[in-house]
Amino acid sequence: MTAVDPALRVTVRVPGKINLELSVGPRREDGYHELVTVFQAVSVYDRVMVQAADEWSVRAVGPYADRVPDTEDNLALRAARLLADRAVEMAGAGTRPGPVALTVEKKIPVAAGMAGGSADAAAALVGCAELWDLGVLRDDLEPLAAELGADVPFLLHGGTAVGSGRGDDISPVLSRGEVHWVLWVTTGDGLATPAVFAEFDRLHEGQELDLPSLSPQLVSALRRMDPDAIGTALRNDLQPAALSLRPDLQEVLDAGLDLGARGALVSGSGPTVAFLVGSQAEALDLSMGLAARGPAGDILRVTGPVGGAAVVDSRGARLRL
Ligand code: C5P
Repeated sequence: MTAVDPALRVTVRVPGKINLELSVGPRREDGYHELVTVFQAVSVYDRVMVQAADEWSVRAVGPYADRVPDTEDNLALRAARLLADRAVEMAGAGTRPGPVALTVEKKIPVAAGMAGGSADAAAALVGCAELWDLGVLRDDLEPLAAELGADVPFLLHGGTAVGSGRGDDISPVLSRGEVHWVLWVTTGDGLATPAVFAEFDRLHEGQELDLPSLSPQLVSALRRMDPDAIGTALRNDLQPAALSLRPDLQEVLDAGLDLGARGALVSGSGPTVAFLVGSQAEALDLSMGLAARGPAGDILRVTGPVGGAAVVDSRGARLRL
């Protein structure tokens, strides 16, 4: 095996997200919905390795690799190409950077409402900017991130943040400490985000929708990091649409609440269900209870908030913010 010159290879670690609140308003002219959401980045990570190569390519490895496209529509590959196209005007790079080969170690569930594809795109932007030594700041990457998808700007930053507009206009939320979550992830097919928004439209046909808004209760509960208050304030306007497409999720929500979760909701467009618990010990109890009782699914214990896409060394240590 030939050793790869470390100067020609960068690894980026990027988290998945859940939505603690998702308030959805009317559909806009551009097909997107006006929304306000509270994102939280949680401790399940993909790693994206970016390596100089003769041709543009992407491949995935890891638990959910078989659901990741290796074609031109892979969002991480589109992100790398987009940054190459813009590098000269953005960073004064002398020439357009050459191709990269991307390897995605896929641990964030796919088509699950956890923005796994968007996370890989954010990681590709950060990794290519580092590999090509563009000297740009994370904020400089934000407009490109927003072009790639509504959730991509949040994954550049991580933490807990409010997203408004399409979800891509980000401002951080003050919070102290961490919260524990148990995630139930389907082992069957996921849900496609556009299909869930289309179902939302169908369920609200003929209704005049209010503009989206945040509940003051959630923001105040996050400032105090009070699990019971956060649990009560969790809300997702897409949940009825996700349940309409996947009625089995109701059983999952009921099971977790029966087993003592302090709050529960479908994350984003689903079908992942997030349960808020008060401690690591409660997380362990709930995950064992869910595994024993079913419905069948993968169960992850995570904490949040965690930082966004960051370059790491080969052992996974974080090198820079
Ligand atoms: O931006 P992204 O490609 O991640 O969005 C996926 C799809 O989700 C959009 O094509 C649209 O159908 C839906 N969406 C929406 N309103 C938003 C965000 C996403 O309708 N604010």
